[in-house]
Amino acid sequence: MKIENAVALVTGANRGIGLAFARELLARGARKVYVGARDPAAVTQSGVQALRLDVTKSEDVSSAAALASDVTLVINNAGIAQTGGFLAADSEDAARRIFETNFFAVLRVSKAFAPVLKANGGGALLNVLSVASWVNGGELAAYSASKSAAWSLTNALRSELATQKTQVLALHMAYVDTDLTRGFDVPKSSPEEIVKRALDGLESGFDEVLADELTLQVKRGMTAPRPSYLPQAS
Ligand SMILES: NC(=O)c1ccc[n+]([C@@H]2O[C@H](COP(=O)([O-])OP(=O)(O)OC[C@H]3O[C@@H](n4cnc5c(N)ncnc54)[C@H](OP(=O)(O)O)[C@@H]3O)[C@@H](O)[C@H]2O)c1
Repeated sequence: MKIENAVALVTGANRGIGLAFARELLARGARKVYVGARDPAAVTQSGVQALRLDVTKSEDVSSAAALASDVTLVINNAGIAQTGGFLAADSEDAARRIFETNFFAVLRVSKAFAPVLKANGGGALLNVLSVASWVNGGELAAYSASKSAAWSLTNALRSELATQKTQVLALHMAYVDTDLTRGFDVPKSSPEEIVKRALDGLESGFDEVLADELTLQVKRGMTAPRPSYLPQAS
């Protein structure tokens, strides 16, 4: 889809990758950008419409879908992460909390906005996933599992929304320089470069964007003799 004149909603867009999406959408000529935030007062970006939207609250999601009835592009960006493996003492609670935001909220927002997108000609849904959809080494165990589940959800939604001509794009990438990765001493992409690649892919009609070299390597390596999702010999 074309961004020029689009009406976009980005969840979790008061900071990080979501904020970079909001800025790039404005730069590409979007007619309106709704910035979803748990606290609308935290939205400092000018030229956008702040919208109270805690994606884990069904009342917020239904109000947003009623209010933002002109939306043609939904970006499911809001997400949380927690380090730790499945054998950690709090792993079940952590997994439930993470899945509530990274999986069930993506489902909730997508369902609420599917009729809005249909009424506005089809439009597009862009789900922010991760290279962690395909690899899980246990450091971010529940997070990675939630992104695998959200990847599967995205693939199902692409099929289900095909009849109403909604483009569904999955965005996968490794580390990006935001608050979420502050504690990780690893190479990181900037939010701006990831967002540009994602929106280039959207405008080119793609179903999937692999936004950095590591993600491309992991995807290519999935059919290697020793697949990339298994522990590699050091
Ligand atoms: N950073 C990376 O390396 C990386 C890599 C791959 C994928 N991703 C994905 O990219 C997305 C954005 O991550 P980020 O790096 O920008 O993280 P971030 O800097 O921590 O920002 C997360 C955003 O999500 C919002 N959020 C969290 N829970 C929410 C909820 N229940 N309702 C509404 N908003 C909520 C936060 O709002 P508050 O300010 O209210 O907390 C914040 O605006 C996530 O889906 C993440 O999994 C990130």
